[in-house]
Amino acid sequence: MAETKRSWEKRLAGEPDELTVDFVESLSVDRRLYKYDIVGSIAHSQMLAEQKLITKDELKAIKGGLIEISREIERGQFEFAKKYEDIHLAIEAALVAKIGEAGKKLHTGRSRNDQVATDIRLWMRDAIEILQAKLNGLQRAFVKLAGKYTEGVMPGYTHLQRAQPIVIASYLLSFVEQFERDITRLKNCSELLNISPLGCGAVAGSTLPLERKSTAKRLGFADISYNSIDAVSDRDFCAEFIFDCALIATHLSRLAEDWIIYSSDEFGFVRIDDSYCTSSSMMPQKRNPDVLELIRGKTASVYGSLIAILTILKGQPSGYNRDLQEDKIHIFSASDTVKASLDMAQAIVSHTKFNTKKISAGLEEGFLDATALAEYLVGKGVAFREAHGIVGSLVAYCEKANKKLAELSLDELKKYSASIEPDVYENLGAVNVVNKYATEGAAGPKQAKEQIAYWNKQLAE
Ligand code: ARG
Repeated sequence: MAETKRSWEKRLAGEPDELTVDFVESLSVDRRLYKYDIVGSIAHSQMLAEQKLITKDELKAIKGGLIEISREIERGQFEFAKKYEDIHLAIEAALVAKIGEAGKKLHTGRSRNDQVATDIRLWMRDAIEILQAKLNGLQRAFVKLAGKYTEGVMPGYTHLQRAQPIVIASYLLSFVEQFERDITRLKNCSELLNISPLGCGAVAGSTLPLERKSTAKRLGFADISYNSIDAVSDRDFCAEFIFDCALIATHLSRLAEDWIIYSSDEFGFVRIDDSYCTSSSMMPQKRNPDVLELIRGKTASVYGSLIAILTILKGQPSGYNRDLQEDKIHIFSASDTVKASLDMAQAIVSHTKFNTKKISAGLEEGFLDATALAEYLVGKGVAFREAHGIVGSLVAYCEKANKKLAELSLDELKKYSASIEPDVYENLGAVNVVNKYATEGAAGPKQAKEQIAYWNKQLAE
């Protein structure tokens, strides 16, 4: 690339210090915006031609030059010189070097401030679509796995203590719900960010007759921003995007935590496929769930990015400040981390098996059927508080006698409540209980099958 003097070198005395060049550059980070920068520049130059601010020939030269630059970057033939600070100046300088005078007109009525705000929005629209597709893929993997376990019963936990029996399918579908909300949150984020800042210039707009709606339309924005000061300083959407990533990471981290526990010998509920485990350099017997641990661990850096973007924003005076350049490190990092974790999670979910034998063997521990017994008594006309007390006493008795509720004789049961009749046994035992669940959204086989049918239809679209 030919040496191009930067126009502000006329304003500043001499070259910037080498330390400064290294410190202010963002090219190493924002070079991945090149496609969006070029698309934005083409839209801007087309508008300039429409408005007769440049000639048709100049437009042709600019467009041709930009497309060539795009190809050079793709082929790895572009020199990213950090003295150009960022991707915007690097591309502009390359254009001037390539086509001469016409290239110097590209930046008419534009500042890097509205340019970068535009580029990020364009990038983020795509990033959101990618994340949504990955979330969908993970949802499909969960629904498929759930289909195998609509009858398999496991303990449902609260406080990590055995609470009520649930079918494994319902447990798995609980993640599908979480990821559905993540998809919706990203959709909301995408809708809110989809406005064009282009034409807002540095902070106040322009005295030139720019047609902002024309560039907005070309770039697929739903509208333009209506306040130039806000347009160049708004990074709300970046904070929101990272928050959405942070919540996805949270959901993945909770899944990871569950399965790290469930795959331990103490639980033995799930088997994580060997492809997603590592061994120990010292202990030959080990199968460690490192991938899950890293999904959990990487959540930290996404949270770090969330705090970072909020902190970048909080102290800034109105208008553009260079602090904003730091935004990209965090949106890229959050997006990259979550993307990688989603890919891993989908692979793991697709290959995980539940050890239904082992789970069933321990299923009658912990009085999972106690609540159902209290509800049985409600059905016999006993007030719930009373029923709660009766079952509490029965559980205490069972603990002493080392028996399960289902193992008690009718006589033993009747000592605690005269309302208990022979049909009580249909309500005892974990498997009986899940089949009795009557409420919508309950964790029984009937509800799980309905939900699987719903999700299969939903996710096919
Ligand atoms: N590299 C900058 C960023 O990412 C572009 C805008 C710089 N604008 C400025 N007036 N210095 O935010």
